[in-house]
Amino acid sequence: MTGDEIAALSKQHTIFEWAVQGVVDPIPVARAKGVYFWTPEGKRFIDFNSQLMCVNIGHGDTRVIQAVQRQMEALCYVTPGGMTTEARAQLGAKLAAITPGDINVFFFTNGGAEAIENAIKIARAYTGRPKVVSRYRSYHGATAAALAATGEPRSWNQPLMPGFVHVTDWYHGVQRPPDSADEALRHLEEVIQLEGPNTIAAVLLESVTGTNGVLIPPDGYMQGVRALCDTHGILMIADEVMSGFGRTGKWFAIEHWGVVPDLMAMAKGLTSAYVPLGAVGLRQPIADAFRDKMFPGGLTYSSHPVACAAALATIAVYEEDRLIDRARERGALMAELLRDLAARHPSVGAVRSIGLFGVVELVRNRRTMEPMAPFNGTSPEMAALGTFFRQEGLFTFVRWNYFFTNPPLCITEAELREAFAIIDRGLAITDQAVQE
Ligand SMILES: Cc1ncc(COP(=O)(O)O)c(C=O)c1O
Repeated sequence: MTGDEIAALSKQHTIFEWAVQGVVDPIPVARAKGVYFWTPEGKRFIDFNSQLMCVNIGHGDTRVIQAVQRQMEALCYVTPGGMTTEARAQLGAKLAAITPGDINVFFFTNGGAEAIENAIKIARAYTGRPKVVSRYRSYHGATAAALAATGEPRSWNQPLMPGFVHVTDWYHGVQRPPDSADEALRHLEEVIQLEGPNTIAAVLLESVTGTNGVLIPPDGYMQGVRALCDTHGILMIADEVMSGFGRTGKWFAIEHWGVVPDLMAMAKGLTSAYVPLGAVGLRQPIADAFRDKMFPGGLTYSSHPVACAAALATIAVYEEDRLIDRARERGALMAELLRDLAARHPSVGAVRSIGLFGVVELVRNRRTMEPMAPFNGTSPEMAALGTFFRQEGLFTFVRWNYFFTNPPLCITEAELREAFAIIDRGLAITDQAVQE
């Protein structure tokens, strides 16, 4: 089929996520390798968002493909409740080795939202308390509890499950200076007091906030959340769905602050999206609580052998190719390239990055810091920038007044510079809209 035929038939018979269906204009993709993908007609794109911030090892790695093929030839599926496989056993042990502290036991899901759902269930079952505190400017997934925990416009469309409380953190948008870690923690502490500490099962937070703008916690914030949770017997759940598996230059972003959460949700980079898999990791004492009481969750495809085999092979790629170190090293170069954009383009209001997790926030005026598009909206300039990136063969997410720089961790220096050269030219569009 041609690219146009694929796009038209897809639009006729399938739904595109989080989109007004009539205006979706999908890129038809036929193949991919490394940091590039191609349309059926051969137009090449550099993947500067690792698709949905998930193809961390890069596209088309034959080591993972062959592991999946071997697993499928041997065994495609067993019932997860009463049977087990070598792939499941090995993956649990491997994750216990690479996750922080005594996070030793894992429940496998199909993706990130289900990992969050189950983390919330576990926290409620363990503590016997109902409420979950999470942040505004967070995304935790589109299933019922995960969406209720989410604190951004994607959760505005449905009546939400009760039992969820939102707090602000240090970041208040590009127009306001950030709060200190202490100020943000005081707010969280006050909300915990007002809600009743012994009604709160968990504080759930992305270790580095992802789609809401790569928000990197100030030093002391995560440690302070850990301390507040300890004081009140509340579990700390780290959402590492996007920030995990090397994205920030550590296996898991929470390690930057030396904190061990009680529960950790992961997905995306776990298999680099070669096949779907998520997991929730439990600290040993929490896992032990289910030795003589029922674990309150289950999924037909939990611990799917093909997904477990893909995850094991993916983790082996991170190790063999030193991709976690690479993310840190290339991340230092990316931070330089981002600073350089900020120095030369008046429409760049802020840049943030940690490892290969980066964002550029655009403004109309660096004095007022008026964003180039409003919260939850777009503008002709942001739309034109998105169109330019697409025409020039750069794929990334453009959202509200910002866009991401999240390449696969295998990216070379030359490829990184190639992408930044396109961005550099694109920013001429938004620079023209700057009113000094
Ligand atoms: C931080 C975070 N948590 C949870 C999710 C939900 O994961 P999934 O889409 O695999 O259900 C996402 C997805 O983008 C995410 O970024």
